Amino acid sequence: MFTRTTFAAATAALLMTGSAAMAGPKAEVLHWWTSGGEAKAVAVLQKEFADNGGEWTDMPVAGGGGDAAMTALRARVLSGNPPTAVQLKGPAIQEWYAEGVLADISDVAKAEGWDKILPPAIAKHMKCDGKWCAAPVNVHRVDWIWANADILKKYNIKMPTTWAEFNAAADKLKAAGVTPLAHGGQAWQDATVFEAIAKGILGADGFRKAFVELDTATLTSDKMIAVFDQMRKMRGYVDDNFSGRDWNLATAMVMNGEAAFQIMGDWAKGEFMAAGKVPGKDFLCGATPGGGFLYNVDSFAMFKVAGADRQAGQKLLAKLIVGKNFQKVFNLYKGSIPVRTDVSLDDFDVCAHKSAADMAAASADGSLLPSYAHGMALRSAQSGAITDVVTAFFNSDMSSADAVKALAKAVKNSL
Ligand code: GAL
Repeated sequence: MFTRTTFAAATAALLMTGSAAMAGPKAEVLHWWTSGGEAKAVAVLQKEFADNGGEWTDMPVAGGGGDAAMTALRARVLSGNPPTAVQLKGPAIQEWYAEGVLADISDVAKAEGWDKILPPAIAKHMKCDGKWCAAPVNVHRVDWIWANADILKKYNIKMPTTWAEFNAAADKLKAAGVTPLAHGGQAWQDATVFEAIAKGILGADGFRKAFVELDTATLTSDKMIAVFDQMRKMRGYVDDNFSGRDWNLATAMVMNGEAAFQIMGDWAKGEFMAAGKVPGKDFLCGATPGGGFLYNVDSFAMFKVAGADRQAGQKLLAKLIVGKNFQKVFNLYKGSIPVRTDVSLDDFDVCAHKSAADMAAASADGSLLPSYAHGMALRSAQSGAITDVVTAFFNSDMSSADAVKALAKAVKNSL
């Protein structure tokens, strides 16, 4: 028999189901895409989400490379109130999964056939214990040199293809009063330059031994000493005001003719493009010397949250992120290439074409390497330990021999 209370409870339950079913998908999205090019790119996702009935709450945490964003994330998770979706990548995804706080998005992945459309090398970063726990956005290449075309022309300099050529060009520019290297003295930017040099000098196998396997012999080898020697040269090529500068301001220096080169991932291309600059004409892109390809895949992980509307938001976001249209439009702005190999690159520029071709070649010859500086190779404690040494070296007169000793010690202590 229906009592008053059960009736009331049933009505309340009905109302709740009704309102949950009616409430549209919601997402609070934590990311660090705040520069000009980055903001244009993330706006594509916001728009697609809204066009599909979603309500987006933006949680941007400024700071290239995402260090500040990760600190904000820890605080939110610790307080028991994680954001719905978080820009997260590499082994950090599995680290958070191990904490039991990530949602399983395998149902979306299965429905959308991600196993068929994503390259296995990328898919593996998105899985936790065999379940899908993140959605990939793009492939950024880290090991690029960007150059101001006019400056190179004026000083009759070709895009360097060896570190010796780079040094010769930089010495020539410096003698002429031009800042050779636009750089921002932030730890992650130091690490970005360092790993590009390491790729060239250690080679693919050496890079993997050092930054994936943390092999002590490689970390303390003569070749690693040579990597630090080249870093020391780089220190002589930056301007006096490099400390603390944001990466996009360094890109602007190349854009505005205040510096000749920048070594940075292709999010820098997003900045050039956002400013209306044309690749091949205003600016040039070339791989840093030594072959290989350092990849950095941006992805979003969904955190366990309550509420049908927020869970629907997570599913919608995951679906849109890997969607064909989003993969194209987003990456045109972001400077990266689509993670899906079935997206046509017809509308992409010469640098994106080079990225795709070099990535395929690197994948075939075993020189496709995860970026340690951008969190693709190591757990954060270990990559942080390496970067601390790199930054300490760059900002002091530490010798290269002492640097490799410090490197081995820091890595050992981080294990
Ligand atoms: C990278 C990230 C890129 C870009 C860059 C600078 O770690 O993967 O998408 O945002 O930081 O902020």
